[in-house]
Amino acid sequence: MAAHWAPDSWTKAEARQLPDYPDAAALDRATDQLKSFPPLVFAGEARNLTTELAKVSESKGFLLQGGDCAESFAEFHPNNIRDTFRVILQMAVVLTFASKLPVVKLGRMAGQFAKPRSAPTEVVDGVELPSYRGDNVNDIAFTPEARIPDPQRLIRGYTQSAATLNLLRAFAQGGYANLHQVHRWTHDFMGRSPWAKKYAETADRIGEALEFMAACGIDPETVPQLAQTHFYTSHEALHLPYEQAMTRQDSLTGDWYDTSAHFLWIGDRTRFEGSAHVEYLRGIGNPIGVKCGPSLDPDALLRMLDTLNPGRAPGRMTLITRYGYDKIEAALPKLVRAVTREGHPVVWSCDPMHGNTVKAVTGYKTRPFERILAEVRGFFAVHRAEGTHAGGIHAEMTGQNVTECTGGAIDVTEQTLADRYHTHCDPRLNAGQSLELAFLLAEMLNEEMAERRRVAA
Ligand code: PEP
Ligand code: CO
Repeated sequence: MAAHWAPDSWTKAEARQLPDYPDAAALDRATDQLKSFPPLVFAGEARNLTTELAKVSESKGFLLQGGDCAESFAEFHPNNIRDTFRVILQMAVVLTFASKLPVVKLGRMAGQFAKPRSAPTEVVDGVELPSYRGDNVNDIAFTPEARIPDPQRLIRGYTQSAATLNLLRAFAQGGYANLHQVHRWTHDFMGRSPWAKKYAETADRIGEALEFMAACGIDPETVPQLAQTHFYTSHEALHLPYEQAMTRQDSLTGDWYDTSAHFLWIGDRTRFEGSAHVEYLRGIGNPIGVKCGPSLDPDALLRMLDTLNPGRAPGRMTLITRYGYDKIEAALPKLVRAVTREGHPVVWSCDPMHGNTVKAVTGYKTRPFERILAEVRGFFAVHRAEGTHAGGIHAEMTGQNVTECTGGAIDVTEQTLADRYHTHCDPRLNAGQSLELAFLLAEMLNEEMAERRRVAA
């Protein structure tokens, strides 16, 4: 257990990006209510995830983390949850096949509401209002009333998270995750996509492997694990009053866990030294992530790792790098060398989204798919050169056919962004782009594994 830590010790440190509630008593009432609600996850599940991530840190697995930039009350619908879950499973099957490694599936789902912003206010047509900070804080509508933080939104965020998680658990355990079914979806989808030819070979080989297994008597009837999966949830631990209210002492170990999700991460804007967010995450037993952007120097990262993982427990720390396609190859080696030199066990994961956001001529925030892929290639190149494992991907994506990132085989152009631009914050990959990303990752992982076999031989 962390020394000199309590669920509220963060209140003595500098907290950036927290909403300014006009009525402090109303916030207390909401967090008191949250404290009386059931935990969303159980500490034992968080420990299982740590064990799975420990394998990734030893190059024996791959982490696939994805979902909305911001979940919203407006997009809350079973079909949206189902479709994102389905695409994550499809990606996982492709990655597992290519790497021959277990893939850890982690949704940015069931709690990803609060958003850090680059400016406290937003100006539209000469009118200045407080920024939108996520649906559990205020409303995206551009009116003065909508932008007032309302603590009751935390309760609604909790209930939406509970219902989302309930459906995810049902899908993961109830048969929806059947390996044969997941492959059939990919196969059907490929048939309709212009890049089918390019990836048909991989898809066919997956199909053959499944048929071979079935012929040997290994199918979902004989091996129920083929019809089930482990699926975990995560979000940015930004709204500290909410996270504190969901922090509970595990009755089995006596340790503190943030029971709002299995995995929590610190954003690039709140990971500075002395941050309240670092202080909070230091004391919880969950596996945690840190976003690493261009302003993070290697010594500061090492100090943060000593604070967050003094016992150097494998699986505890995931470093999520987000540099931008043109910066990663120059910047990442310094961090990798420092962490390797000091012997900190970490999962290296690539967020190819947040360093590649641009404004389209039409004014929409977008991300060119080519740059996203280029950052992924750069990430793999650095890890190959350093002899470390390219351990994961962190993507903003949805199962919906949105038009938010430009490019991809079913080409989204700057002019067509407006067709189906639904995100409440950053632009997401659509279902087709997500699968295309998975096939690229499969190629890169395949190469990494072949290189490892060569070195071992
Ligand atoms: C995010 O993941 O949505 C985000 C805000 O990322 P970052 O902290 O890396 O900017
Ligand atoms: Co985002």
